Amino acid sequence: TTGDIKAGEQKASTICIACHGPQGNSLVPIWPKLAGQHPDYIKKQIMDFKAGNRYNVQMTPMAMPLTDQEVADVAAYFSSQKQSGGTADSELTKLGESIYRAGNPTTGVPACSGCHGPAGLGQGLSRFPRLSGQHAGYIKQTLGYFQKQERANDPNGMMRGVTARMTDQEMTAVSQYIQGL
Ligand code: HEM
Ligand code: HEM
Repeated sequence: TTGDIKAGEQKASTICIACHGPQGNSLVPIWPKLAGQHPDYIKKQIMDFKAGNRYNVQMTPMAMPLTDQEVADVAAYFSSQKQSGGTADSELTKLGESIYRAGNPTTGVPACSGCHGPAGLGQGLSRFPRLSGQHAGYIKQTLGYFQKQERANDPNGMMRGVTARMTDQEMTAVSQYIQGL
């Protein structure tokens, strides 16, 4: 299904931007930015919410009524918008950068850049989402969900594996780094 940006904008402006913000640049960290995210990743997440493979008390009821065409339209719209970016204002960004680029060889945490790319843009393969500029609060919370298996829609358990041996401090640090990436 090919998405229509104009139709997606129409749909998004009546429902989604209330939480995800103008053009998909949300202002509050519990709501992820959608601007500049890969369209196939956006579609997969909405289909996962619809199928019950990912659950959120706010988002699941928003996904349920969307038709395949509407899902393609909002994905086309949000992915075409410019992401607002962010800054990493933490002393932990040095640790964050080292986790992002090299992982933690001692405990077997892999480098994030291996899948999400050196600039956090997802390496062009749409199943690896863009991370750069995303809210640190959302990233940290999401890493915790994967670690506790509360989010389990990652293909082959990739993110559950990545987070299994991460410490709380490593998750805080890498989230800060990603927000400023
Ligand atoms: C997450 C799309 C409306 C609250 C998401 C994600 C997508 C999405 C694609 C996953 C983002 C990611 O994985 O990075 C949409 C669309 C909407 C819509 C297309 C309109 C039809 C809303 C509204 C709310 C909301 C109105 C608030 C009432 C959330 C929350 C999450 C989320 C809290 C994060 C869930 C989590 O932490 O796992 N949304 N959304 N969404 N959405 Fe929406
Ligand atoms: C998703 C962070 C390493 C593969 C995600 C998400 C975050 C994240 C926050 C959710 C994005 C969102 O909800 O918008 C990280 C960090 C890493 C890391 C901080 C390093 C510590 C990796 C590695 C791989 C990988 C090494 C590949 C083996 C994926 C995939 C998804 C994902 C496939 C999408 C899951 C889905 O379809 O729902 N990652 N990641 N990540 N990550 Fe990672």
